[in-house]
Formats: sequence, structure tokens, C-alpha cells
Amino acid sequence: MAVSIKSEREIGLMRESCKILAEVHAKLGEAIRPGISTWEIDALGEKLIRSYGCVPNFLHYNGYPASICVSVNNEVVHGIPSKDRILEEGDIVSLDAGLIYKGYHSDAARTYPVGKISEEAAQLIEVTRQSFFEGIKYAKEGCHLYDISNAIDAYCKKFGYGVVRDLVGHGIGTSLHEDPQIPNFRQWKRGIRLKAGMTLAIEPMINMGSYGVEWLDDDWTVVTADGSLSAHYENTVLITQGEPEILTLSD
Ligand code: MF3
Ligand code: CO
Repeated sequence: MAVSIKSEREIGLMRESCKILAEVHAKLGEAIRPGISTWEIDALGEKLIRSYGCVPNFLHYNGYPASICVSVNNEVVHGIPSKDRILEEGDIVSLDAGLIYKGYHSDAARTYPVGKISEEAAQLIEVTRQSFFEGIKYAKEGCHLYDISNAIDAYCKKFGYGVVRDLVGHGIGTSLHEDPQIPNFRQWKRGIRLKAGMTLAIEPMINMGSYGVEWLDDDWTVVTADGSLSAHYENTVLITQGEPEILTLSD
């Protein structure tokens, strides 16, 4: 397993790629409202990405037919946008987006409320987001990869949530998916030692119920096996000797 260490030049390009993605996400977040179709969200996302001269990296990736993954309620990830899928008040929706800038990939996901949602759903979204921050306390040189996994898992378990096991985070750079794989659940080894210059997409996917997931017949959409709600939060992160740089968050 070879984990790439980015040069200063490459880190600069990753920063740019991720900064643009943060802006795309901010604008997509503002568009979320009851009545919008998941197709419209994808169309807006693709238009925004291209308006920066970038390319959507999900489009046609292993045959994926859209630029943005739009996953509603019990859908965990990789929901395929559709004109027939209209967001309703009380839904939660996960938007996963990525782009390529001058050959460098970025990847980030957010879960949003649609209008007013239940307290339980709001807590799931917030705990999923916070679990990322619990994880990245260990995202620094000298720590080990699975310190991140264990911290995410321990935090989510306190709330009785299911931490998805069948999908993981990943290294990122000149490809969308590079080594290493980054599980979000408890590991019994330490994993590789983290080094400054690694860029990682850390992405907890958390179910309100059990961790089990299933694939729909479209071969993309991942849903919770028990039908419970699911949330997703992802950022592309740069490992340094000190605090990690969260590249896809705008300040
Ligand atoms: N964030 C997801 C990932 O890391 C998105 C990729 S899905 C696909 O794998 F649409 F690109 F296939
Ligand atoms: Co990812």
C-alpha cells in the first residue's frame, strides 16, 4: 500500500481544488428547499463546478450517471438524481460532490435538513458532523490511521447509532480514490503512521439504526437495511505536523 505524499506544489493545487468545492457546496446548500428535485440539485452542481473551469469527478466514474450524489432519508450514499424525486419538508438530504482542478481531485459531503425536521433527525446530522471532528483530532503526523476510525466509532456508539462498515474514506489526489482506505468503525490494529503531506477524504456515514446497508437494483443507491435515516459528512483533509488542514471547509 503506497500512500502518496504531496509536494508543496501539489498541496497548493489540492487547496485550490478543495476551496472551489467548498464554494460549490455552500451554494448547493442554499438551494435545498421543499419542492426541489434531486435532478435539479445535480444540474445546479454540475453547472457550478463547470463555471469554475473544473470537471465533476463523479460523472461517469465506474458508470455513475451524474455529477452529485443526492441521498434522501434512508439512502446512505450514491443516490442517483431523478426528476421524479422531489424533496419534502421533514426530509434529510446528503449531497456528495467532487471535482478536478488542474488534475487534482477534491471530495466532500454534507447532510442538510429540508425545511423543519424532527429533533431525532437533527441530532443524527449533528452527531455525524461532530464524529468527523472527533476523528480528525488524530489526523496528524505521528498518529496512526485507525486512531481516526476508532474515535469516530466511539463517538457515534455513545448515541446508539450504526457506523456503516461497507463503505470507507480514502486517500485522494491525482485520483479520486487513492490508498489508504479509511474505515469509520473500530479497528483492532493501528494502521499506517500518518505523515505530513498525505491528503485524506474522511467520511463517516452514520445510520440512526443498525449499521447494515443494502444496494438497490440500480446498483448504486446504498440504503439502510432497516430503513432508518442515514447521514454523511466528508471533507478532504491535509495531514501536517500539527493540526490538520480541512481543505474543503471555507472559513
Ligand atoms: N464521496 C464518494 C466517494 O468517495 C463519491 C464517489 S461516488 C461516485 O466514493 F459517484 F463517484 F461514484
Ligand atoms: Co469520498
